Amino acid sequence: MNVLVIGTGYVGTTTGLVLCEKGHKVTGLDIDEKKVEALSAGRLHFYEKGLPELLRKHLNQNNISFTTDVKTAIQQNDFIFICVGTPKKKDGSADLSAVYSVAKMIGTYMNKYKVVINKSTVPVGTASKVKEVIEAENGKVPFDVVSNPEFLREGSAVYDALHPDRVVIGSSSKKALEMMRQLYVSETSPIVETTPNAAELIKYASNSFLALKISFINQLARLCDMMQVDIDEISKGIGLDHRIGPHFLKAGIGYGGSCFPKDVSALITIAKEEGMILSILEEVEEINKSQPFYFLEKVEKHIGGLEGKSIAVLGVAFKPGTDDTRESPSLVVIDELVSKGCSVNVHDPIVTITNPSVKQFDHVFDAVDGVDAIVLITDWDEYLNLDWQKVKSTVNRPYIFDGRNALNKQELVNIGFHYEGIGKP
Ligand code: UDX
Repeated sequence: MNVLVIGTGYVGTTTGLVLCEKGHKVTGLDIDEKKVEALSAGRLHFYEKGLPELLRKHLNQNNISFTTDVKTAIQQNDFIFICVGTPKKKDGSADLSAVYSVAKMIGTYMNKYKVVINKSTVPVGTASKVKEVIEAENGKVPFDVVSNPEFLREGSAVYDALHPDRVVIGSSSKKALEMMRQLYVSETSPIVETTPNAAELIKYASNSFLALKISFINQLARLCDMMQVDIDEISKGIGLDHRIGPHFLKAGIGYGGSCFPKDVSALITIAKEEGMILSILEEVEEINKSQPFYFLEKVEKHIGGLEGKSIAVLGVAFKPGTDDTRESPSLVVIDELVSKGCSVNVHDPIVTITNPSVKQFDHVFDAVDGVDAIVLITDWDEYLNLDWQKVKSTVNRPYIFDGRNALNKQELVNIGFHYEGIGKP
């Protein structure tokens, strides 16, 4: 089938390439000529494991092409995926201007029946608003708007898109639903068919529930610190109950990234607009915001104040496997250390930051040279497999603060480090 994907960010590009894997012909449309040029030449403008190979494969097989030609792209395709960004506005709600401007574009050029599919994360009711915007531009040509949210994790987007836990299709039109079934005909995962409103809410509810699990375990980790109990044992002990499940119970410095902070905040705002305080999510947000500061209090306490100390921060990305630093707890930690008068050395395997107050190093051993403490924020494999004996011989004082509970405490203690995790006695 001929599919158009509007927006060639990580969601749009992954969606398009995975649809190619399922046998469809895909056009990627973007207003940014540079992105289109790069993608057409097989180059990605962001880092995502496995995607460059998939891009080159489908370019070579002529399954995917990229264009800035809006009119032709809209007229030649029956399925149109909207995959543009919905960033957080100052008031916490989602900024839908890109979604509506794409809807307007579709209305302007649409020449025959189209299924317009929203993959961007949008508040409940957006499918109907998109419909109104298209209708206002073009009242003659029939079309339907479907909600088909994505659940991709950065760093494993290709795997997630190829093996989804479920596909959610929200449609109020039988014709569009039938066409979507055809599009997903080779899908072996469960398909949840529902209304557009429910599909939109499923997306926010999924991310908010996962964020809730993380904040729950993070708050419990603070209790574990007080009670000399190991939080990882709690996670294991509760996670084996299949009603709870083992995932997203890893305590640490808190969640970041482009989705959880934005979506929790958006759902709180959506509820407020309905006149309801979603207090449980307000608490989730509060715990997450305070977690880096809780962690830094430990650093301060154990190394005897922060002012004048030299600290190595390992990891800037919000999690391993991505170069994304949006809402990364590392940025909060770096800013706070700088403001408390520390000299900060930073290392990340792929991220470079532009912060004149810190020194960034290409090699981790240079970053830890002579420091008073090492603070690990992103659990990149490179750090987990580091020669810590060698690190010990380089540092000024042997203090490690593990913001991800990812290092082997016993091994580090044996080498002579003072180790502190979160909820790790
Ligand atoms: C998330 C959702 O998982 C995905 O379904 C959605 O489409 C987009 O948002 P992503 O933001 O890429 O994906 O990353 P994810 O792996 O979910 O991690 C989010 C944050 O939670 C990271 O900062 C991660 O370090 C943190 N996290 C995750 C924890 O602190 N503990 C955990 O147990 C799991």
